[in-house]
Amino acid sequence: MSRRKAPSTPDLPRPETLDAGKQQGAYEALRRAILSRQLPAGSRLPSTRSLAVRWLVSRGTLEAAFDRLHDEGYVQRVAGSGTRVCAVIPEQFIAAPMLAQTPRRPPEPDPPHGGVQSHVPFVARRPDASLFDLKTWARCIARGLLAAGPGALEAAHPAGLPALREQIADYLRSYRGMHCEADEVIVTSGIRHGLDLIARTLLQPGDTACVEDPGYKPARQRFSLAGARIQAIPVTDEGLDTEQLPGQARLAYVTPAHQAPLGMTLSVSRRLALLDWAARANAWVVEDDYDSEYNYTSAPLAALKSLDSNDRVIYCGSFNKNLFPGLRVGFMVVPKALRPSLLRTLQLTGQAVGATDQLGLVEFLGSGAFVRHLRASRQAYQARRDTLLACLPQGCTVTGQHAGLHFVLWLPAGSAELEFCARAAAVGLTLQPLGRFCVEVALPPAVIIGYTALTLAQIRFHGRALAQLL
Ligand SMILES: Cc1ncc(COP(=O)(O)O)c(C=O)c1O
Repeated sequence: MSRRKAPSTPDLPRPETLDAGKQQGAYEALRRAILSRQLPAGSRLPSTRSLAVRWLVSRGTLEAAFDRLHDEGYVQRVAGSGTRVCAVIPEQFIAAPMLAQTPRRPPEPDPPHGGVQSHVPFVARRPDASLFDLKTWARCIARGLLAAGPGALEAAHPAGLPALREQIADYLRSYRGMHCEADEVIVTSGIRHGLDLIARTLLQPGDTACVEDPGYKPARQRFSLAGARIQAIPVTDEGLDTEQLPGQARLAYVTPAHQAPLGMTLSVSRRLALLDWAARANAWVVEDDYDSEYNYTSAPLAALKSLDSNDRVIYCGSFNKNLFPGLRVGFMVVPKALRPSLLRTLQLTGQAVGATDQLGLVEFLGSGAFVRHLRASRQAYQARRDTLLACLPQGCTVTGQHAGLHFVLWLPAGSAELEFCARAAAVGLTLQPLGRFCVEVALPPAVIIGYTALTLAQIRFHGRALAQLL
């Protein structure tokens, strides 16, 4: 068999990139020569010996650059015949051909962000991401990935990594008084993801979904989107008024730890009444435990799910509220009867949390960093809350300040909420009127005040402005 003669190698001048880093520079210069066809397909590369003399680098450096070009598919190394440029270079396989050279257009800027933002006084229900130790998080991710190896990067179980579910179950047992095991936990991207899975899986058009009034609007909206008939249930000082629950409903959504937005804790007798109602009405109870980690005056009550002897409570929790909002990891603890159908929905929608974040969280929870962060952030939030309360004039009424990330500030009787919020906006304060959370109830005028994502200096400065408005 006759071997075709390789095209002759042009002289490759010593590249300037060598001065920045020899091995990388040699690799880049040779790759550029291949892509520009200065070294055409089939041509033989100079020997490392001759190139080392001309480029004033060691042969070892060039061997490493040649090996990398080989690994990436640019050259073939044939024993006895040197190194040749491949007939087809990898760029031809990984990049589609450009039909015509079109000039790049500058991207349009995103429209202003409509959602809640940190460091805007007094936007509510935001954690302070700057309290989160990114170095520890980066170490946890690196340790998690290295300990797991490539197997963990394959599609995981739709319920989430078993090790993470184990850690979450441990945390809920120790801190939320729940008797749960890893096989009841489903990892989600947050509470709203949990509500979405519940709506898709459990609600049919015409079903009744009971919600708190006032209450968390996204829950109401998600249930409506599934075609459910929303029944607004008023709340009293003890939380959801269980007396007002209908005889028949598919589910009731509640925030027992710190009612959203009024902030009271659902009393034990109401908890028992709610569970009793769920058993009688054959309904599900959705427990949203969104900010239960933050209590400033006493130990929290255990989660409602801890009393759930009939397995009717779907518990939803989140790391987005206590670590940082962009994390997008939460969890559910689900009744045995619902687990297969919720997992089927989860798998269908393909919204599982990425393996990297899950592995990082396994380390973060297991190493104790999570509880350390909770302790430190609770301390910081309590100081911020106290500073803000001290700014408010004597005689002001606030409620729900014993826990969570916000409180309710009641305005003087006869005030108009929207007008007050407009006056506040004029001095740079973003307040949410209580009326925006109401469905049917009419409550005295009030605004929701968040203080957690502000520094003490910001709180003092803007607290004075708020006091002047009052
Ligand atoms: C009552 C309540 N539940 C859930 C959430 C959202 O949780 P996540 O970000 O995990 O979806 C919020 C956000 O403010 C909330 O106020």
